[in-house]
Amino acid sequence: MQDQSQNPAISQNPSTTAQIAQSTSAKRATIVILATGGTIAGASDSALKTTGYKAGAIGVEALIGAVPEIKKLANITGEQIANIDSADMSDEIWLKLAKRVNALLIDSSVDGVVITHGTDTMEESAFFLHLVAKSDKPIVFVGAMRPATALSADGPKNLYNAIALAASPESKGKGVMVMMNDRIQSARYVSKLHTLNTQAFGSPASGDMGYVLDSKVVFYTMPTKPHTLESEFDVSALDSLPKVDILYSYANDGLAVAAQALFHHGTKALVIAGMGAGSIHKSHKTMLKKLMAQGLIVVQSSRINNGFISANEEDSGLGFIGSGDLNPQKARVLLLLALTQTNSPAQIAAIFNKY
Ligand code: SIN
Repeated sequence: MQDQSQNPAISQNPSTTAQIAQSTSAKRATIVILATGGTIAGASDSALKTTGYKAGAIGVEALIGAVPEIKKLANITGEQIANIDSADMSDEIWLKLAKRVNALLIDSSVDGVVITHGTDTMEESAFFLHLVAKSDKPIVFVGAMRPATALSADGPKNLYNAIALAASPESKGKGVMVMMNDRIQSARYVSKLHTLNTQAFGSPASGDMGYVLDSKVVFYTMPTKPHTLESEFDVSALDSLPKVDILYSYANDGLAVAAQALFHHGTKALVIAGMGAGSIHKSHKTMLKKLMAQGLIVVQSSRINNGFISANEEDSGLGFIGSGDLNPQKARVLLLLALTQTNSPAQIAAIFNKY
C-alpha cells in the first residue's frame, strides 16, 4: 500500500480514525437528490446486460423508490435536472446544476445535496461543482457501473452510501465528494480508472478520502487546495462558458493542424494531453506559438493519469502552462473557469498553482 502521509496534496485528519460519525445524529438531515441520468438511472430489457443499455432511462422518483432504506437516514426529496448519458453533458446543464445546488444550499432547511450522474464525465462535473459551489454543506456525486435493471446492480448501495455521506455532520467543509463502491473520493483528485468494473474510481495522487460502512462515515484525508467557499469562481451571472478543448498526443500525431482548426472555430484555450511528463512533438510547437501570439492559451497536461506536469524551461519560455497534477479533463475545467476571470497567461498560471 502506498504511504500517503508525506503527500502535500492531502492533509491527515488527526481525529479521523477515532471519529466514526453516525448519520443518525440529533437533528434529522434533509437531503435533496438532483438526478442527471447515467447508468445509475439506466435500463435494459435483460438483467444480464451490463453493456448496450440505455443510460438515463429512469426518473428520480424511481431511483428513490428503489432504495426505501434511505428514508431512515434523512428526509429525502428529488428533482430531475436532466436525464442523459453523461457523455452528452453540456455547459448549459453544468450551469443549471451549479445554480440549483447553490440555491438549495443557501436554504437553511436543506443540509446537503446528492447528485446522481453518469460515471463517464462524473469527475469533470464534480470538479466543476467543487470550484463553483458556494456552500460548506455536503455535496456528493454518485453513479453506478451497472444499470438499474442488472443482476447485482451497484446503484442502490451507492445511493444509500451517498445519502449517508451527505447526511453526516462530518462531511461539512470537505468540498465536493464522489461516492462509489463504498469509497469516498475528493472531486479534486478522483478519476474514472476502469471502463467496466464496479471498482472504477480512484484518486491516483491522493488516495481515497475515506469510506462508508453500513451508514457509518469514516474520513482519513481531506483536500487542502481551495474549493467551494474559498474559491474565487462564480457562475451565478453566466449563461455560457468559454470554449476549451483537449488534444491528445501520440507518435506522429497531427496536433498542429487540429489546434489551428479548433482555434479558428472559436476555441479560446487548449489542454494538450501530452506524452509522459507532458511532451509535445517539436514540429507542433511553432504552430502553437503562432496561435498563442493571437491569444490562444495552452496548458500542458499528460495522457498518463498520474504524476505532475510543470512546463520545462523551453516550454514555459514558449508560454505553455503546466497542469500540475490535474489530468487533461480536470485541467480543462479549471482552465475554462480561469478564462471567466482573466485572459492573462501569467494569471492563469497562478490559478493553476493555487487550485
Ligand atoms: C454515463 O456516463 O452516463 C454512462 C456510463 C455510466 O454512467 O457508467
